[in-house]
Amino acid sequence: MVVYGTRPEAIKVAPVIKALEDHPVLAPITVVTGQHREMLDQVNELFDIVPDHDLDIFEHGAGLSQIFARVLERLDPVLELEKPAAVLVQGDTTTSTAAALAAFHRQIPVVHLEAGLRSGDIMSPFPEEANRKITSQIASLHLAPTEGSRANLLAESVDPRSVVVTGNTVIDALLMTVARKVHFSDPTLEDLADSGRRILLVTTHRRENWGEAMGGVGRALAHLARRFPDVEIVLPAHRNPIVREAVLPHLAGLPNVTVTEPLPYGEFTRMLSLATIVLTDSGGVQEEAPSLGKPVLVLRDNTERLEAIATGTTRLVGTDEQRIVQEVSLLLENEPTYEAMAQTANPYGDGRSTARVLEAIATLLDRAKSATSMPIIVGEGHEKS
Ligand code: UD1
Ligand code: UDP
Repeated sequence: MVVYGTRPEAIKVAPVIKALEDHPVLAPITVVTGQHREMLDQVNELFDIVPDHDLDIFEHGAGLSQIFARVLERLDPVLELEKPAAVLVQGDTTTSTAAALAAFHRQIPVVHLEAGLRSGDIMSPFPEEANRKITSQIASLHLAPTEGSRANLLAESVDPRSVVVTGNTVIDALLMTVARKVHFSDPTLEDLADSGRRILLVTTHRRENWGEAMGGVGRALAHLARRFPDVEIVLPAHRNPIVREAVLPHLAGLPNVTVTEPLPYGEFTRMLSLATIVLTDSGGVQEEAPSLGKPVLVLRDNTERLEAIATGTTRLVGTDEQRIVQEVSLLLENEPTYEAMAQTANPYGDGRSTARVLEAIATLLDRAKSATSMPIIVGEGHEKS
């Protein structure tokens, strides 16, 4: 059973669900919590996934405890009904940790996709660093994207036999999607693509940046828009009204700033491939951009994605207005600095992570089968012959 609820989870589990659909023995039962609504549905539509169950927990402005409690309460009857052999959760959202706990309560093995990321600061990212650590305590199989994430798990005394390094399935999703070369539904973006102008692509949403920090990002963007009138700033705005209220007022009336709704994943990956520089606090975007050779300036003070910092394709710049302006200006004005960052090596994956994920899950379930001499249950009504 694959349980997911937000946009990044949907993107990262999509290749796994598609591969499970084609697997000779395993079959997916898909459950969305609806923690996100429009941003989640967009991804399911793109990958042609119709969830078997929708817990429909979405409510504007719901608090963390409310989301967590609803997932726990509404997932339990689905677990009872479907009796899955294992539950796969992805990453570190509230959906992910609540679903892992619901499965653990029923003694169903938890498979943790993208396990072992650590910033080392329990308050940043908040609450994701705590979520990841909690899930690591109760998972039976830890699918680590990199050797660094495996090392983080081993340092916390996780059984090494339960950790498999798979790479990150986000790269599989990216390569599947970017190859489609979709058209932008907004003609302004299609015109921009044809114009050949330099693009600064920006996304922001992190909870620890809400308020003054995000205001700093907004002011920096306005400053950059005025200083570089030949550069277009594209900001697909997260649906969260708190984010919009913090950033968008600073950008009103600037002719070279385009604010859009969240772009469907196909369109976003095309915009990523057109961008000159990416400015983001997103985890997924930090992982994707190096595959397309795009320098990333990270709007955070720390990151759990250290591998691309080490290879030089991403750099931490925080949320201070002057620092952001200085770092972006350097990249726009200094070609050698830009070229040094614009490398296409990707430490997060080679596009073949999904196959490793399925092999690890099959091995886990085989082991469970020989331990009990019972047939593998792949969910009532979901058995494959
Ligand atoms: C969540 C995750 C975060 C992840 C991010 C990806 C948690 C604690 N946080 O943060 O780890 O990086 O998703 O984007 O799980 N909204 C909509 N429609 C949508 C989605 C969101 O209107 O499709 C609005 C709602 O008003 C909602 C608000 O955004 O209340 C915040 O959504 P929420 O899921 O609580 O947190 P995110 O900040 O999106
Ligand atoms: N993304 C998208 N449309 C957008 C912005 C981002 O499809 O308008 C994709 C992006 O390519 C990445 C994922 O959403 O795969 C990242 O999601 P987000 O930044 O919301 O969450 P995080 O990765 O920080 O948890």
